[in-house]
Amino acid sequence: MKIPDDIRKDVPITSKIIYFDNAATSLTPKPVIDAMMEYYLEYRANVHRGVHKLSMRATEEYEKAREVVAKFIGAKTHEVIFVRNTSEGLNWIPYGIDLRPGDKVVVSQLEHHSNLIIWTRLVKKLGIKVEFIREVNGIIDVEDAKEKIDESTKVVSITYVSNVFGTIQPVKELSKLAHSAGAYFVVDAAQAAGHMPLNACDIGADFLAFSGHKGVMGPTGIGVLYVKEDIQSEFEPPFIGGGTIEDVSYESFKLIKGPERYEAGTPDIGGAIGLRAGIEYVSKIGLERIEKYERKLAEITIKGLRDLGIEVYGTHDPSKRIGVVSFNISGYTPHEVAAYLDEYNIAVRSGHHCCMPLMKKIGVNGTVRASYHCYNTIEEVERMLEVLSEL
Ligand code: ALA
Repeated sequence: MKIPDDIRKDVPITSKIIYFDNAATSLTPKPVIDAMMEYYLEYRANVHRGVHKLSMRATEEYEKAREVVAKFIGAKTHEVIFVRNTSEGLNWIPYGIDLRPGDKVVVSQLEHHSNLIIWTRLVKKLGIKVEFIREVNGIIDVEDAKEKIDESTKVVSITYVSNVFGTIQPVKELSKLAHSAGAYFVVDAAQAAGHMPLNACDIGADFLAFSGHKGVMGPTGIGVLYVKEDIQSEFEPPFIGGGTIEDVSYESFKLIKGPERYEAGTPDIGGAIGLRAGIEYVSKIGLERIEKYERKLAEITIKGLRDLGIEVYGTHDPSKRIGVVSFNISGYTPHEVAAYLDEYNIAVRSGHHCCMPLMKKIGVNGTVRASYHCYNTIEEVERMLEVLSEL
């Protein structure tokens, strides 16, 4: 598939708007919509609960989605659990593991609220400690991590790619530090999945979460929590009920083995089928090609903004970042800049990007953020730079 032309044909909205808000959510290509339509129009039934033809077909397609996700992240099929989104996947973790008073959780100063407040609320409630690894220019400082991760650390939970700066984090080094301290290593892959190759096993993740609606171009309301096979016996399902059991009496119950033990109630079947189509779609384009292309768009943006004297946050080293660029224009608030760009049909995100502590740390109320996908074009980036130069 030719980037960006063939992808633009599948995403008709791209002819009407310059969409640079892909870190918030991506546009949906036709094959994803077709796959979901097929489910709703042709085999709309529940999964794992019927012996009739429609239910069998729905179960088969749903489980096929799990296989496709597993292959996409280098996991085993039974290590893939469907959740609603990254935030939900991360929220499950503190409830499923055996956290005790005095345990330490180490996160970084870069974290999105979803990987922050799920831990800090347990400081008062449970008596855990939370420490923050320093970030420098958008990159986690591994030397500081060595100081913070110690024998009392139970969890190290880190974003793979910063949603503010687009910077790639040294997750493999951090995973080694976490494991040598005997801690779980959690990866928030919300901004990595679909924008670059992703392999949970290679990273050394015990848990990894991502959403279907961002880089992998699937629908909203479906996401993935990877839970490594070796630790599934230690990870209690936070929700149980229909579909999660092998046997039940009035007095007791036995949970089923495998991922279904974590998926209580009817899941988002159409969503999982759409997610599968999205993953197949980006895989067909090629994750390395997507990464390279989006990095090029970011490089052009950074150079163009700097030529205009505009401040760009995070390291400018292209090898350490992907297609997300945060900046500010002096004299204007981020929302003013975003509203101005919107007048020219250019959609960017402005504000704190769900990273208020990070904004406070870098001394701003927010930033303007342009975030790319492989349907964006160099001409669109140049148009944004032109419009900004007029401002
Ligand atoms: N976390 C998403 C973003 O960065 C919503 O926009």
